[in-house]
Amino acid sequence: MNSATHLASILVSLSIVLCSITNVRGGYKPSDSILLSCGGSSDGNDADGRKWVTDTNSKFLPGSVKSTVVTADYQDPALPLPVPYMSARVFTAPATYSISVNKVDRHWMRLHFYPATYPGFSSESAYFSVSASGGFTLLSNFSAHVTAKALSLAYVVKEFSLPASEDGIISLTFTPSDKYNGSYAFINGIEIVSMPDLFSQPASLVGFSDQTLEVGGVGLQTMYRLNVGGQYVAPSNDSGMSRTWYDDSAYLYGAAFGVTNEATDKVRVDYPDAEAEYIAPTGVYSTMRTMGPDPTINRNYNLTWVFSVDGNYTYVVRFHFCELVHTKVNQRVFDIYVNNRTVYEDADVIAWASSKAVPVYKDFAITVTDGPGDDQLWVALHPSVDAKPQYYDSILNGLEIFKMSSSTGNLAGPNPEPSQMLLKAEANLTAGSFKTESHSSSVIILAPVGGVVAAAVVIAVVAVLYKKKGRMPGNDSNGMWLPLYGHSHTSSNSKSSISGKSSAGSNFANVSAICRHFSFAEIKQATKNFDESLVIGVGGFGKVYKGVVDGVKVAIKRSNPQSEQGVNEFNTEIEMLSKLRHKHLVSLIGFCEEDEEMCLVYDHMAHGTLREHLYKTNNTPLQWKPRLEICIGAARGLHYLHTGAKYTIIHRDVKTTNILLDEKWVAKVSDFGLSKTGPTMNQGHVSTMVKGSFGYLDPEYFKRQQLTEKSDVYSFGVVLFEVLCARPALNPSLPRDQMNLSEWAMNSLKKGALNDIIDPVVKNQIAPECLKKFVYTAEKCLLEHGVDRPSMGDVLWNLEFALQLQETFENGGSPSADGADASGSFASSSDSVSLTSDETGVSRGLDDPAQMSTTAVFSQIVHPSGR
Ligand SMILES: *[C@@H]1O[C@H](CO)[C@@H](O)[C@H](O)[C@H]1NC(C)=O
Ligand SMILES: *[C@@H]1O[C@H](CO)[C@@H](O)[C@H](O)[C@H]1NC(C)=O
Ligand SMILES: *[C@@H]1O[C@H](CO)[C@@H](O)[C@H](O)[C@H]1NC(C)=O
Ligand SMILES: *[C@@H]1O[C@H](CO)[C@@H](O)[C@H](O)[C@H]1NC(C)=O
Ligand SMILES: *[C@@H]1O[C@H](CO)[C@@H](O)[C@H](O)[C@H]1NC(C)=O
Ligand SMILES: *[C@@H]1O[C@H](CO)[C@@H](O)[C@H](O)[C@H]1NC(C)=O
Ligand SMILES: *[C@@H]1O[C@H](CO)[C@@H](O)[C@H](O)[C@H]1NC(C)=O
Repeated sequence: MNSATHLASILVSLSIVLCSITNVRGGYKPSDSILLSCGGSSDGNDADGRKWVTDTNSKFLPGSVKSTVVTADYQDPALPLPVPYMSARVFTAPATYSISVNKVDRHWMRLHFYPATYPGFSSESAYFSVSASGGFTLLSNFSAHVTAKALSLAYVVKEFSLPASEDGIISLTFTPSDKYNGSYAFINGIEIVSMPDLFSQPASLVGFSDQTLEVGGVGLQTMYRLNVGGQYVAPSNDSGMSRTWYDDSAYLYGAAFGVTNEATDKVRVDYPDAEAEYIAPTGVYSTMRTMGPDPTINRNYNLTWVFSVDGNYTYVVRFHFCELVHTKVNQRVFDIYVNNRTVYEDADVIAWASSKAVPVYKDFAITVTDGPGDDQLWVALHPSVDAKPQYYDSILNGLEIFKMSSSTGNLAGPNPEPSQMLLKAEANLTAGSFKTESHSSSVIILAPVGGVVAAAVVIAVVAVLYKKKGRMPGNDSNGMWLPLYGHSHTSSNSKSSISGKSSAGSNFANVSAICRHFSFAEIKQATKNFDESLVIGVGGFGKVYKGVVDGVKVAIKRSNPQSEQGVNEFNTEIEMLSKLRHKHLVSLIGFCEEDEEMCLVYDHMAHGTLREHLYKTNNTPLQWKPRLEICIGAARGLHYLHTGAKYTIIHRDVKTTNILLDEKWVAKVSDFGLSKTGPTMNQGHVSTMVKGSFGYLDPEYFKRQQLTEKSDVYSFGVVLFEVLCARPALNPSLPRDQMNLSEWAMNSLKKGALNDIIDPVVKNQIAPECLKKFVYTAEKCLLEHGVDRPSMGDVLWNLEFALQLQETFENGGSPSADGADASGSFASSSDSVSLTSDETGVSRGLDDPAQMSTTAVFSQIVHPSGR
C-alpha cells in the first residue's frame, strides 16, 4: 500500500466516532405506539401479537375526509394474518391523517400495502404519492402493484424514520396521481412507534477522509436490515421497536460466502448499557458470518454483499459487530470497503469493543450518484494482511442500509422494474396453457432471481393443483408460503446481478432456474415417449427419465398417477424447490401438469448419484479428496436448508442416492418429496409420521415421532461412514452385527478397530489428522440424542477443516504433532469434547483434540513467510 492511501486511511480512522454505546439504563418502552388498521371493521391482532386499532371514527382521521372502506376479495396465502392487510382505506382525492405524538422522539413510520383487487378498484390503477409533515416526500408515483410484482411479494411494507415533530403532530397525506385515469390511493396499515435516538452520532462520510455527516435531523428510509449469518428476527423479538431483520444470504456476491456461526449458551451478548440493546437485539449480535477456516482462501477473496439502491441519494450503511470467538486485539483484523472504496482499514472489533461478546456498530455515509449502473451498493470485507493478524479473517454480525432524505426532503424512488428475464418468462407462462384465477394473475411470475425469493408461483401452481383435485388450501397455511424476503426493500434482481451471478453460483441467484411450464407433448418428445431405455432412477414418486429439451439435457420425474403419495410428494417438491435456490441443491427447471399426468423437470446431473461412485459400480471409485469435497458440498446444501430460509426445512431423506453430482462433480442435494418445514418459532420439533430410508433413519425420530433438523444430521452421519467405508447403510446379507452401518461403525470405533472398516481404495490416501477429524465429525452426528448432535453448520465447518488438513498433508505440510498413532486407535471416549458447546463459546468444535495438534499447521499458513 502506498503512503498516500495509508495516510488517508489514518484520517478516516481518526474521524470515526467510536459508537461503543453509553447511556442510561432501562428497557426501551416506546411512548408512542400507534398501529392503525385502515378501513378495519374492528380492532385485531397481527401475526406478531400486536394489536391494531381501526381508523374508523378515529381522532386521527377527520370525519370530513372522503374515503371508501374496502375489503380485499382474496386472501393471499402469503399474508401472515388478515390484520392489517385484508381491509383498506381508499382515497380518490388528497387526504390527510394527523397523528398526535410526543415532540421529543424520532418515530418509526411503517406503511403497509396489500395490492389486491378491492371491489370497484383494481390494483393496477393505484398510483399515488405520500408525504409527511416536516416537508418529506415518502413515496411518489408509487404503485404497490408494480412493486409487489417486481419483487414477487404479496404485500409491501415501507419503513421510514422521521425526526422529532416540532408541533407534536405527524401528518400523513395520500395524494392519488393525476397522471393516470382512475388512479386512487390506498393504505392498509399505518404504524407509528417512537424510537430512541439511534442516530445521535454522525456517520463518517466515505470519500472525504476527515468529514462526518449528521444524520439526526433528516428523514430516513430503511432499505435493508440484515441479521448477517443468522436467521430472520421477527418484530416481536426486536428490542421494543418491532423491526424485522432478514437473513443476509440472498445478498451475498459470488460463490465464496464464508461460514456462519452462532454463539452457544455460554456466550451471552454483553451490552455495555441498556441503551445499547436498542441498537440491535441479541438475535443479531449472537450470529455472525466470517470468511472460513482457510487463511489462504481468505486472502484471495472478499466477503461481498451487493444491494440495489436508488441513485442520487446518500445512504447510511451501519455495520454491527460482536466478536464471539476471539478475545485479543490483532487476532481478527480486516478492511472494510463500500462501493470499492476503503472506508476503514485494520478494523479490529476487540480493539473497539475492548472485549469479547460486546457489540459495537459503525456508520458510514456514502453518496450514490445517478448515472447508468449507479444503482448498486457494494459492501466488502477482506483480511488486513499488512496488520499481520493472528487469523486472516473478517467478521460481520448485522448490516442496515438507510436512505437519507435529500435537501428537499425527498425520499421517493422509482418503482422497481422486474428483470427482462422475468418478463419473458411471464410472457411464456401466460402464452402457455398455464391458467390461473384472476386474483392471482398479479403474482403469477416466479422470481427467485438475485435475492428475492417468492412463494408466488408456488401459490399459483398449488392453487391450480388443488383446484384440479377439488381441494383448496385453507387459510392457515402455517407460514408455509411466507415469502422468505417479504420486505419492501428495493429489488435486488438488477440486470448486472443476473448476468454476473449465475455462474458464480451465489445463493438464490441461479438464473437458469426459472420455473417453466411444459406441455405433456413436450415431455413426451423429450423422453421419446417415456422410453424405458432412458430410465435413470425409480422412486416413491415414479420413474425418472433422462431427456433433452431445447437441446438441454434434463432429468424428468414422472409421477405414478395411482399414487396419492406421488401427488403429495409432487406438491412438496414444487413448493420446496421453488422457494430454494442454492448451488448445492438440485434445481427445478419446470413442471408439467396435464390431466392425470404430472412431471417435474430438473437439471440433468451428469455424474449421477454419489453412491454410484462408491461401491457396487462399474465406475472407478472416487479418491478420498473428491469424496471429502462432495461431503462438504452436500453439507452446505443441508446447512442452507436448515438455516438459510425463514423456516427450517428438514429434508427427511438424506442418503447417498439423494446426493447428485453434476459434470464438475459439484454435489447437489435432491429429492425434497418428503421434506417438511418446521420446527417453527415456539416449537422444538414437528410431530409427524415417520418417513425416510432404513439404514439412515434417526432412531430418536423413529421412537418418538418427533422430527427436528438433527434427524438430517443423523442421516448425514451415516452418509459420512458410507463414504469412508464404501458399503451400504443397510446390508441384510451380512451378519447381524454388521448389517447396519451406523451400529457397525460405532462399535468398531469403540473397539479401536476403525481401520479395519475403511474402504481399502482410500485407506492409504487419507491424512491421519484428516481421518481423525472426519471420523470425529461422523461420530458426533450419530449420537443417540438429537440435542447432542452438532448442527449442520458445525458439521460443515469440521469437514472443511478436515479438507484443509488433508490438503496440508498432501502439500507436504507439517504432519500432525501426535500423528504417529493417528491412524490406529479411535477410542471415541478420548474425543470427549462436545462439538456444540466449547469454551470459545462458538459452536465450531475449536477445542477438539485435532485442533490442538493443528495449531502449528494453522500458524504456518497464516504467516507463510513470516519468520
Ligand atoms: C379518462 O377518463 C375520461 C372519462 O372517463 C375519458 O373521457 C378520457 O378519455 C380518459 N383519458 C384517458 C387518457 O384515458
Ligand atoms: C465494484 O467492483 C466490482 C468488481 O470489481 C464491479 O463489478 C462493481 O461494479 C463495482 N461497484 C461499484 C459501485 O463501483
Ligand atoms: C476486494 O475489494 C477491493 C475493493 O473493491 C478491491 O480493491 C480488492 O481487489 C478486492 N480483493 C479481492 C481479493 O477481490
Ligand atoms: C439529484 O438530487 C438533487 C436534489 O437532491 C436534484 O436537484 C437533482 O435534480 C437530482 N438529479 C437527478 C439526475 O435526478
Ligand atoms: C410511474 O410509475 C410507472 C411504473 O413504474 C412508470 O412506468 C411511469 O413512468 C412512472 N411515471 C412517472 C411520471 O414517473
Ligand atoms: C420463451 O419462449 C421462447 C420460444 O418458445 C424461448 O425461445 C425462450 O427461451 C423462452 N424464454 C424463457 C425465459 O423461458
Ligand atoms: C425470539 O428469540 C429467541 C431467542 O433467540 C428464540 O428462541 C425465539 O424463537 C424467537 N421468537 C420469535 C417469535 O422469533
